[in-house]
Amino acid sequence: MRDGRPPKLSEIPAFTAYMDTGWGTPDRTPPVVPGAARAAAEHRARLAEALPGRTLVLGAGEAPVRSNDTAYDFRPDSDFFWLTGCSVENAVVVLRGADATLYLPPPAYPGDPAFWTDARYGELWVGAAPGLDDWARALGVPVRPLAELAELGLEPGLDEEAGRTLADLRMYKDEWEVGQLREAVDRTVEGFAAVIREIPAAVAGAGERWLQGTFDRYARAYGNGPGYATIVGSGRHAPTLHWVRCDGPVLPDELLLLDMGVETNSYYTADVTRTFPASGTFSPVQRQVHDLVERAHRAGLAAVAPGRRFTDFHHAAMEVIAHGLADWGLLPVSVDEALSDTGQHHRRYLVCGIGHHLGLDVHDCARSTPEAYQDAAMAPGMVLTVEPGLYFHAHDLTVPPELRGIGVRIEDDLLVTETGAEVLSGVLPLDAGELEKWMARV
Ligand code: GLY
Ligand code: MN
Repeated sequence: MRDGRPPKLSEIPAFTAYMDTGWGTPDRTPPVVPGAARAAAEHRARLAEALPGRTLVLGAGEAPVRSNDTAYDFRPDSDFFWLTGCSVENAVVVLRGADATLYLPPPAYPGDPAFWTDARYGELWVGAAPGLDDWARALGVPVRPLAELAELGLEPGLDEEAGRTLADLRMYKDEWEVGQLREAVDRTVEGFAAVIREIPAAVAGAGERWLQGTFDRYARAYGNGPGYATIVGSGRHAPTLHWVRCDGPVLPDELLLLDMGVETNSYYTADVTRTFPASGTFSPVQRQVHDLVERAHRAGLAAVAPGRRFTDFHHAAMEVIAHGLADWGLLPVSVDEALSDTGQHHRRYLVCGIGHHLGLDVHDCARSTPEAYQDAAMAPGMVLTVEPGLYFHAHDLTVPPELRGIGVRIEDDLLVTETGAEVLSGVLPLDAGELEKWMARV
């Protein structure tokens, strides 16, 4: 004992020697989703073809600090995962053509004091940790200790051309990726049912966060977690596009907007929205707004097909919205003027985009150019969302009082096929009456 304090464990030779011995080998199988390694190899081949002769260095990244010495959950960078199937924090991949070498921080095993002293890499702290050879076998690529990367003088990072090329390539989902997205959507639909069942508890006092937590718990149990911050907006919160604060009550006579997506263990996410009457029955005015959004949504869905321009579904939906608002006397100008590039008055009630690519990121392929994204033709293998809405804020004095505080969004996830599109989330009803029946059933 020094100064009345016990010695550090690492300063006790008998203890450190004792900790070196007597350990068996835990199961260190790397957590690789079946099919991920093969898909990653194919992705690398596509990238090598698109950028011949380039050496690229990508990092998995690091969990952001939450506070002091605690961090948020780690989730690998999407480009890195797409090319490797590897989910190790601080990992780096070096690509030379289609050849890949992974550089990983080695875990600390018995015999190394870090085994029990290092909260980051010590197996006694983090749980069974696959070694470099385990990862090499699971992913089919050579794996080296991360320290060797410094000897090569390479730093992770993508230039603009490489980032854009990856975004363009990731727009086309292969069969394995489509399977992962189907899984994400199916689990999400189940999560919706779980949330609907909890509405009574939320109305009784637990509020929006009870429903947000219900979905997040579901997503964490049946996938990696929510693919983005879960949006639960009751009543006057529903028109707020990204209401993730969720600190309000769930009001029994108001609409409840749920925008939620499960991310699979392979990091592909769904992104689905439905707007329900918390009571189980739409009021006439709630139904009126829902019906217009539904018509816009159906027009958008019908415009998703190979060869159509990406923005076609946006325009198709907007036209329905503008005409509907004009019929209600809500446009200060003619429909033609509103729909023109110098008007857009209808967008006051719908300022956001009404669809985006979907994949490893909820807003997938964002680094692509307008020429390859908005201006491009849709093609088989693309997965995207269609999500029109109407958002009448409680303090928007341009709408009549009965519409104030009503927000409706309908969002589906679609796979573009050879002949049209498949609505992956189509098991959730669109029609207000069908939604009521679905609520009663689940
Ligand atoms: N559902 C979230 C978003 O698309 O922004
Ligand atoms: Mn979306």
